[in-house]
Amino acid sequence: MAENFHGVAASLSGVKGGDFLSSSDLCSDEITALIELAIQLKKGNRRIDLGNRVLGLIFTKASTRTRVSFQVAMARLGGQTVDLNPQVTQLGRGEPLKDTARVLSRFCDVLAVRTFAQEEILDYAKWASIPVINALTDLEHPCQALADFMTMQEAFGGLRGQTLAYIGDGNNVAHSLMICGALLGVNIHIATPEGFEPLPEVVEKASSIALPETTILLNNDPSAAVKGAQAIYTDVWASMGQEQEFLERKKSFSGFCLNNELLEEADSNAIVMHCLPAHRGEEITSELIEGQSSRIFEQAENRLHAQQALLAALLGGL
Ligand code: CP
Ligand code: NVA
Repeated sequence: MAENFHGVAASLSGVKGGDFLSSSDLCSDEITALIELAIQLKKGNRRIDLGNRVLGLIFTKASTRTRVSFQVAMARLGGQTVDLNPQVTQLGRGEPLKDTARVLSRFCDVLAVRTFAQEEILDYAKWASIPVINALTDLEHPCQALADFMTMQEAFGGLRGQTLAYIGDGNNVAHSLMICGALLGVNIHIATPEGFEPLPEVVEKASSIALPETTILLNNDPSAAVKGAQAIYTDVWASMGQEQEFLERKKSFSGFCLNNELLEEADSNAIVMHCLPAHRGEEITSELIEGQSSRIFEQAENRLHAQQALLAALLGGL
C-alpha cells in the first residue's frame, strides 16, 4: 500500500474531538483511514507526537489487552495514562457520574471507559467535554473490531467482498464486528444457538449502513456460516457479568466450538480469530489457537496500533 499521509489526515479530520462509543460513530472512509494509519504506525513509517496529553482509564471490568494497549499507545504518542478504577476513586463511594465526568474533563484530554451498560458510557459522553472511548460495554466492543479488520486487511491486502464468519454468542464483540464489517463492505455470517442471536436493533443498524452488496447472514448452523469465509472468529460463551449463567449456556452452545472441521469447511486460506481471553476446549480448540491459520496474537498486538491511530485522530495529532 503506497503511503498516503495527507489522504489519511484529510479523511480523519472530522474525527477530532468526537467520541467513539459505537462502531457506527465512524463512517466507512474514517474506519478505512484509521486502519491505514494503524498499519503505517505498526510498520514504523509514521511517528506521531501529541505532546504531553493524558488519557484517563475508567475500567469497571477486568482487562489485560485493552488496558495495556491503551497505556502503551498513549506512551508512544508522547502522552501518559492515569488509572481511574472506580475502586480507587470517589465513583466507588457513590460520587455521581455527571460530577466525575466534568471534573475529569478538567484534568484529562480523553477518557476510555469499560463498563456494563451502554447507557453509562453515553452518560459519560454527555457530561464530559473531552472525547470518550468505549473500551467495552455489554453492547459493543468497537476498539476490538478496529484491530480485527486491521488484521484481515494485513492478511488479505483488502477487505471489501471478504467474508468473516462468527460462531458463538451474539454478544458485544459480534455486534461491533457486524457494524464495522458492514461499513467496510465485509460480509458477516453469524451462527449462534437459538436464543443467543445478536440484538435485532443492532442487526437493523448494521443492515441500514452496510455498503452495497454486503451480506449479513444470521443462522444457527456453524457449518453453513463458515462456507467460503476468509476469517472464522469466536468469543467466549459467557461474557463478563454472565459467569453465573455459564453452566446453562455450556449446554446451549454444544456444537458451537470452533475446530478443525469448521476450518476445513471455510476458504482454503482462511484465518482463525478470537478477541481473547479464550477458553480452550469450549468455544475454540487449543489446536486452532496454536495452529498455522491462527492470527489471534496478531489481533491482540493490533489493539495497540489501532488504538494509537484512534487516539491520534480523536486528539487531532495528524
Ligand atoms: N480482547 C479484550 O478486550 O481483552 P481484555 O479484556 O483483556 O482487554
Ligand atoms: N465478550 C467478552 C469479550 C471480552 C474481551 C466479554 O464481554 O467478556
